[in-house]
Amino acid sequence: MNPTEYLQADEIGLQRAAELLAQGLCVAFPTETVYGLGADATSPKAVADIYSAKQRPSFNPLIAHLPSAEMAFEQGVFSEDAKALATAFWPGPLTLVVPISATSTVCDLARAGLTSVGLRVPDHPVAKAILEKVALPIAAPSANSSGHVSATSAPHVLEDLNGRIAAVVDGGSTNVGVESTIIDCTGTEPGLLRPGGITREQIEAVLGKKLAHRPPVSAKPMAPGMLTSHYAPLTGVRLNATSFGPREAALLFGKDFQAPDALISFNLSESGDLAEAAGNLFSALRTLDEAGADCIAISPIPNSGLGEAINDRLSRAAADKTA
Ligand code: TXA
Ligand code: MG
Repeated sequence: MNPTEYLQADEIGLQRAAELLAQGLCVAFPTETVYGLGADATSPKAVADIYSAKQRPSFNPLIAHLPSAEMAFEQGVFSEDAKALATAFWPGPLTLVVPISATSTVCDLARAGLTSVGLRVPDHPVAKAILEKVALPIAAPSANSSGHVSATSAPHVLEDLNGRIAAVVDGGSTNVGVESTIIDCTGTEPGLLRPGGITREQIEAVLGKKLAHRPPVSAKPMAPGMLTSHYAPLTGVRLNATSFGPREAALLFGKDFQAPDALISFNLSESGDLAEAAGNLFSALRTLDEAGADCIAISPIPNSGLGEAINDRLSRAAADKTA
């Protein structure tokens, strides 16, 4: 494979990114949540290259990204609830899992053989411009090695994938910082498969009802991607830490806990703002992971609003790595 091209998010860079995608190559680009590793979702060969670049287990289905809700509607069968959510939150950090339509062009491999498809219309000018130019559904998992912390900047993408993908488009740091919320709309009642950038409260307000209960995704999930050990730094992780030792890297939130003795510390949001914390989460995990600590010790984070997505990612990071 040739060296990874580093593209600016200007007209030339965007055009080049679209051209490479149209040729069936893998290109990483920013969305409002995290960087995505995109490839033509209609091409099994292109999709296979995503799996191999990420070293991702092939049973894990990918989200197809479209430039508009109208184009997404062609790919799936939308219930009234699914339509209401699409109308309220697209473009934005929401993925809807719906039954595939007769006109769907997303290939089997991108869906990992399922009869449903995950669809998303991202709200980021760079993602949008690229999707409009290629005019194909683009499969894009997070642009990191499988199981590693998601990438929220172009340099983070290269840390994991340099030399393994055709190009990365540098659109700066992503602002939401956690992945999209995934809602399963294949059954009679919509259910939450993955908490993310749109909160449960926002979704339930639009639906006018509670989201259906879904079994914990680690237990033979509908979303096979929700493997328990995911989003994992290499260092061990300790949750709900209230004191921090000298060999530990401290990840703090708000003002309740301090870590004067820790090897290194990072506060996700001094003021206790969950949106700011989500935006900082993955880059903080990468920084602390590189500090050579015995363990990353994480102070408690409230579970309301975006806290649900943050705590979901942290408990996955801790799975298997409990120090
Ligand atoms: O914010 C995001 O969603 C980012 C950006 C790049 O768009 N993408 C992302 O993709 O997080 P990924 O592949 O890391 O996570 C997608 C999740 C997987 O866990 C997968 O199992 C689930 O979506 N998924 C996709 N299609 C599905 C389907 N048909 N049924 C159930 N789950 C599905
Ligand atoms: Mg991911």
